[in-house]
Amino acid sequence: MPPHHTTAPGRGAPGNGKGVLLIAAALCTVILTVTGILITVLPGPPAQDGHRLPELARGHGIELGVAVAVNPLVNDRRYRNVIEDHYTSVTAENTMKWQHVQPERGEYDWSGPDTLVDFATARDLNVRGHTMLWHNQQPAWLSQGDWDADTLRAVVHDHVTTVMDRYEGRVTSWDVINEPLEDHGPNMRENLWYDVLGPDYIAQTLYSAHAADPEARLYINEFGIERAGPKADALHALVTDLVDRGVPLHGVGFQGHFVHGNVPDDLADQMRRYTDLGLEVTISEVDVRIPEPVTGEDLADQRREYHDILVACLEVDGCVNVTVWGVTDAHSWIPEWFPGYTAALPFDDSYRPKPALAGMVEALSRRPRPRTAATRA
Ligand code: G3I
Repeated sequence: MPPHHTTAPGRGAPGNGKGVLLIAAALCTVILTVTGILITVLPGPPAQDGHRLPELARGHGIELGVAVAVNPLVNDRRYRNVIEDHYTSVTAENTMKWQHVQPERGEYDWSGPDTLVDFATARDLNVRGHTMLWHNQQPAWLSQGDWDADTLRAVVHDHVTTVMDRYEGRVTSWDVINEPLEDHGPNMRENLWYDVLGPDYIAQTLYSAHAADPEARLYINEFGIERAGPKADALHALVTDLVDRGVPLHGVGFQGHFVHGNVPDDLADQMRRYTDLGLEVTISEVDVRIPEPVTGEDLADQRREYHDILVACLEVDGCVNVTVWGVTDAHSWIPEWFPGYTAALPFDDSYRPKPALAGMVEALSRRPRPRTAATRA
């Protein structure tokens, strides 16, 4: 018998080729359908692709933001790509601070803020304004001025009004007050505003901001309140008093500058203390710094830490934004301010995604649940 009449194991007779193909196609369809169902129903392995972050964040009704510096924004395409591909909001890392915006009395420099706001507007990214009153990064004419209360109050009012007017409708939230408490304690920080205007400078400035842009969400932004303790309690008391008095305040930013291995596990509880008051909250300046030398194990742990920070926000109704404080490790403030620490952000010095980015993807890959918005108008 000629060899071509032989039916080899596993092969159909030549006359049945079409039928076998049909069966195979049907089998494939079944397998693909079942796999599709399983992928939809079961929590699949975490996606590594950070490009999904904007879509995932929007699915949860939160913003995922990044602090942006103007110089690399203008000069480095890779820097712009990371922002465009991974985030839904931007915060001005420095360029909207008083030192940069009003470097001389009455002389405003809009070049940096305009660049950032135009970039964001063109890409449908939300802009968070940072910051009005802060004890750092003040111009010399302000910090070294010999102020009486009425004059300083007018200077503050003019600054807040001028800046917020310019970006009304384009900058939707402002850190009006930054770090009102002393670094490590429960007392109010004795800054210029406190010394000259007294503790009510906070309420007065919030009223000025609300008058300038009634739609803007107005925030107090603070660090060291992310875990239970005297400073957390002090800020809560301060904010409760403002809310009770009807002062226009809409949110509290938890900065979230964390040290690897020491990320608080009660962050969500602390945020709920403010959402219980009807306020919204953000985790506004996230980074997780690692002591050198950085090991692979450190980066793997950091992945879990970024994951847990994101999850804390997702678990709190009224947590509206998580912002990482810088685009890559090359742009982070950490090495300059904390010598011996580094690698605090989700992208490394060479713009490569780190495990932390996958941790964020994993956290946001949870099934979205219905969330209740803050109640304070
Ligand atoms: O502007 C000068 C520039 O002229 C000079 O060429 C350059 C040389 O190093 O320095 C520039 O100043 C830098 C400034 O940022 C830019 O505005 C300073 O060196 C640098 O120390 C400064 O650091 C910023 C820091 O605030 C100031 O306190 C960081 O970039 C910024 O990330 C950091 O952000 C703060 C938040 O606003 C509030 N929460 C804490 C957070 C970290 O400190």
